[in-house]
Amino acid sequence: MLKNFWFWLLILFIVIQPFSFNVAATLPIKANETLEAPKEVLSILKRSCYDCHSSEVKAPWYYTVAPISWYTQRNVKMARNIINFSKWNGYTKEKKVKFLKKLPKAIVIRMPMKAYLYLHEEVTLTENEKKLLKSWSKELKEKLK
Ligand code: HEC
Repeated sequence: MLKNFWFWLLILFIVIQPFSFNVAATLPIKANETLEAPKEVLSILKRSCYDCHSSEVKAPWYYTVAPISWYTQRNVKMARNIINFSKWNGYTKEKKVKFLKKLPKAIVIRMPMKAYLYLHEEVTLTENEKKLLKSWSKELKEKLK
């Protein structure tokens, strides 16, 4: 019985593979559209946020395997809809301000996403990094207004 279960699970796994859409890991990047920020801020964002909120997602091989790919693709798509740092300069002031307003709370409660942190512990923000991101977003928000 149990042997059957694993057998069918394996079959199922094989059958769904043609439906494993690839995450569009890299999209065209225009140099003048990417976010400019102080070096320390940019390096935190690149390490902890760019894997979803950018056009340069570093996708390990398992991201392209179904059913994981369904999940990652959806997340990257949603994240890029909220903000894609690689397209920052192309956004309206309103869109930027809206995002910056949400950032301080987001990084305390759910960004980077919990499920992602299980796999990538190294992207966890330290208290100092959170402070730095918060003051950066506040400053930039004031500047944009
Ligand atoms: C593993 C993918 C992933 C990573 C990494 C990630 N995000 Fe997100 N982010 C998402 C998704 C998906 C959403 C939209 C769904 C949601 O709000 O949960 C989102 C939404 C947001 C929002 C809007 C929240 C709201 O209240 O509407 C902000 C702000 C944000 N992210 C900031 C960040 C910052 C800053 C980082 C880096 C410290 C980061 N994210 C890292 C996937 C990610």
